[in-house]
Amino acid sequence: KKTENQMLVIFGASGDLTARKLIPSLFNLYMADQLPKNYVVLGVSRSNLSDEAYRERVVYNSSFLTEKTKNIDEAKLKGFADKLYYEDIGDDYDTDYSNLRKRVESLKEKHNTSGNIIYYLSTPPTLYETIAHRLSEVRMNTQNNGWKRLIVEKPFGYSLETAKKLNKGLHQYFKENQIYRIDHYLGKETVQNLLVTRFSNSIFEPLWNRNYIQHVEITNAESVGVEKRGGYYDKSGALRDMFQNHLLQIVSLVVMEPPIGSEAEEIRNEKVKALKSLRIMTDEKELAENTIRAQYVGSTIKGETVKGYRDEDGVDPNSTTETYAAVKFYVDNWRWHGVPFYVRTAKRMPTKVTEIVIHFKKPHHQIFKGSEMQEMDNKLIVRIQPDEGILIKFGVKVPGQGFKVERANLDFYYSSLVETYVMEAYERLLLDCMQGDATLYARADEVEAAWEFVDPILNYWKNGKDVRMYGYGAGAWGPENADDLIEEEGYWRNPSEN
Ligand code: BG6
Repeated sequence: KKTENQMLVIFGASGDLTARKLIPSLFNLYMADQLPKNYVVLGVSRSNLSDEAYRERVVYNSSFLTEKTKNIDEAKLKGFADKLYYEDIGDDYDTDYSNLRKRVESLKEKHNTSGNIIYYLSTPPTLYETIAHRLSEVRMNTQNNGWKRLIVEKPFGYSLETAKKLNKGLHQYFKENQIYRIDHYLGKETVQNLLVTRFSNSIFEPLWNRNYIQHVEITNAESVGVEKRGGYYDKSGALRDMFQNHLLQIVSLVVMEPPIGSEAEEIRNEKVKALKSLRIMTDEKELAENTIRAQYVGSTIKGETVKGYRDEDGVDPNSTTETYAAVKFYVDNWRWHGVPFYVRTAKRMPTKVTEIVIHFKKPHHQIFKGSEMQEMDNKLIVRIQPDEGILIKFGVKVPGQGFKVERANLDFYYSSLVETYVMEAYERLLLDCMQGDATLYARADEVEAAWEFVDPILNYWKNGKDVRMYGYGAGAWGPENADDLIEEEGYWRNPSEN
């Protein structure tokens, strides 16, 4: 695909995300020769910085670039840094953008970038609508002299109502096909590979339904706690921070029907349909039986004492925000009728791992009695991170007399494709937006459908009667009570086991 000449305007340019993800991703694209010939980045934020000071900060002195830049020559690095500019926008981004417009115009002339512009909103979400509004006031959203695109970071809304309000707000100034809602999980190779696994092979899809699948299990575990983001996290929690976006995106790719083609709208239509088929839980009893929340409590991991969630900086000592969430749900459609989905996500687990496990039904009639496989099912494991790959677990005969059956693995790891350079999520997504490909971005109705499912759970956790908040020791696989949720199927898979 062609990447046209263009400008990237980053709002929130002195923030953490810009330094940690955006600039390093741009740098990788620069090194891979993926940036267009005439290209420039304008960082916008509230700090008062010169262009030079900005370059020092996000390039020359950035700890996020040291590894990447240590072996490259000065001129090459300068070539990258010199394309970065900075503009101070005043205290709250809510001001007349005429100066910004002038700056953009002059950079456009100087670098001949044409009128194509991506606005990247990496500010607190409360400012998204304000910025879109202010841009429109000075007609920086009009497309008569080049396209204009808006990338919006998460969180996209705080609830169904706020997400709808935000969509409506942005739609006053930008059309839906100009808005790119980023979900970095969609930028992960293995997440995209789900589509390929399902729809370009003939051996999986025939089994991908209620006739052969017993249940689906998705685990997203992080070993870190809330780190320096206690203030943000305490107002968010695992369900909002991970489940509503990243995990439901994964769910939609597992659940969706085959799209008619690979165009953005074709794929996104199916994802929306999938999300709309999740059975929304409304009844308190149902919610009590199918959801579990918990917080990590202080503990010792490998000799190191780790704080409990409520003792973290920025967290209310009486906080009722969950750091662990597990949800069991059903999908009401032809394909999935009666197949339970178990999804869990948490901080401070034993390891960092994200995986999807498709558990197949056992053979209807077991002829090899007493075999190991009798206790176990066939599994297809999609390992999203780390050790990206796919694993199939099946039974083989142990050599020798009789029919002793043991489990074996068929596995594929991305790392075995030595030639392949796996792009980082942000890098891939930025490049897609530069090329006008919205396939891996969330559409308005997708985000709203996800909130529709999550909202009742959040409301129940907040206002329901006697909702329990369990505890789990930092470094454990969640609270013991979460085992009850999946009891019918046995137990949660331990992702550390191969
Ligand atoms: C972010 C969440 O969206 O995803 C973080 O806000 C979380 O809390 C992160 O740590 C996880 O991303 P990854 O790519 O490391 O799995």
